[in-house]
Amino acid sequence: GSDPPLVFHWLPIIGSAIWYGNDPINFFQTCQERYGNVFTFILLGRKVTVALSPKGSNFVLGGKSIAFNAEGAYTHLTTPVFGKDVLYDCPNEVFMQQKKFVKFGLTTEKFRAYVGMIEDEVDEYMKKDPSFRTYQDNDINEWGSFDAIRGMAEITILTASRTLQGPEVRGSLNKTFSQLYADLDGGFTPLNFLFANLPLESYRKRDRAQKKMSDFYVDIITRRKHNPDGDHHYDMIASLLDQKYRNGDKLKDHEIAHLLIALLMGGQHTSSATLAWAMLHLASRPDVADALYNEQVKRFGNPDRSLRPMSYEDLRQLPILDSVIRETLRVHPPIHSIMRQVREDVPVPATLAAPSKDGIYVVPKDTYVLASPLISQVDSRIWKDGAQWQPSRWNDADGVAAQALHAYTDEAGEKIDYGFGVVSKGTESPYQPFGAGKHRCIGEQFAYLQIGTIIATVIRRLELRLPNPVPEHNYHTLILMPKDPKSIHYRRRKI
Ligand code: HEM
Repeated sequence: GSDPPLVFHWLPIIGSAIWYGNDPINFFQTCQERYGNVFTFILLGRKVTVALSPKGSNFVLGGKSIAFNAEGAYTHLTTPVFGKDVLYDCPNEVFMQQKKFVKFGLTTEKFRAYVGMIEDEVDEYMKKDPSFRTYQDNDINEWGSFDAIRGMAEITILTASRTLQGPEVRGSLNKTFSQLYADLDGGFTPLNFLFANLPLESYRKRDRAQKKMSDFYVDIITRRKHNPDGDHHYDMIASLLDQKYRNGDKLKDHEIAHLLIALLMGGQHTSSATLAWAMLHLASRPDVADALYNEQVKRFGNPDRSLRPMSYEDLRQLPILDSVIRETLRVHPPIHSIMRQVREDVPVPATLAAPSKDGIYVVPKDTYVLASPLISQVDSRIWKDGAQWQPSRWNDADGVAAQALHAYTDEAGEKIDYGFGVVSKGTESPYQPFGAGKHRCIGEQFAYLQIGTIIATVIRRLELRLPNPVPEHNYHTLILMPKDPKSIHYRRRKI
């Protein structure tokens, strides 16, 4: 076999790092045209083989973890932030049990309790935050404005701590916790991904904050063990305290602490970015925002069109809201690159990349592979007007069934017809904002609940407008964020 085609570059070592770093989507799409679905580029001395298209995702995400290893690709970024002995700092078989523990903690019973808590937090935020001044004063009916990123980031952390993280974390959010969080977050950037350790202040702050944050959680756990009947039945600390590994051991205090930090960091930017994008699109499409509002009125409005508080069951009966989230995640999936470390030579199937004259391609051991479901998610051969945000593509006229995809012929000449119905969750799906396979996200249901409740709560209170076009992607953050300007205009909704 032979190496996959190498992306041309002028600078040794640096390779294509600058193009990839500034605009990975343009980089991937341009290389896809030039080299096909499988190609290798140099990222600061590392060889990274990109596998595009649904088949490429299947190759990377459906691969065996002995060959394509997540720990090897991520641990230098995540372990200094989350802490030891969880996630990518333990054998995969242990982490898979930890994932199950977290999943057990996300029950329907808890979700029922969360909806009201989230609505309440959004309400309180809008009653207090200075950018909602014109909303707060009943007598003013002027337009005000808020920053989509700041507003959604604050609402996300408030609601996640009120629900998943528990009363102690929620109670210290306005104090020491927020500085610790900010310092830890400063260790979660593309620079940290490229260089595990540098003699920089941000790295030192990260390490100090990790230690303090870990102690903070261990403290909570210790206090709870002495007082098990407190006000925390619905949070993740409470459910992790009950779990046991297969060998009968309970989770250690520091493991619970580090899992909670991982959930905090893992859910924060992904959910808040999705919310910011959804709000920006809704502000630029008042027709969709009105459809969302009318959907709520129809489902649980009073005769005067005022709305009663939402329940979890209500939330699951709002197909337009669902389509807004689904569509936002299609066009702006927060994670644009999913990486694995290659631990043995792996042949590339001929159906994914046609062999060269030297035979089939082989991804060599000790390099990296990368999947980017985003490229398939906006591919206009698969999706009608793939780059456009159009939530109605997920609903038929009755707002029920989904017909999202075309039938199309892929590069290998195979006819693919995804047909009607919800896009599959498999490793070869053209829709994978939550990844696929063994490392697939376990936060999806919580994220839908959190994002859905927040959007529904804001939309029933405010009309939104966007004075500028929807911003472009900012690729300089680890998670896909909107560039400036991201200010949204709002006015109290008239009932
Ligand atoms: C894994 C996306 C929210 C916890 C993943 C992966 C993706 C993803 C793409 C796969 C990564 C890979 O294969 O390398 C998202 C998006 C979210 C979201 C788009 C919100 C819109 C959350 C939340 C939580 C969470 C709220 C926690 C409550 C996790 C965990 C994993 C994961 C524990 C497993 C990692 C692994 O097995 O290696 N997520 N996520 N995520 N996510 Fe999420």
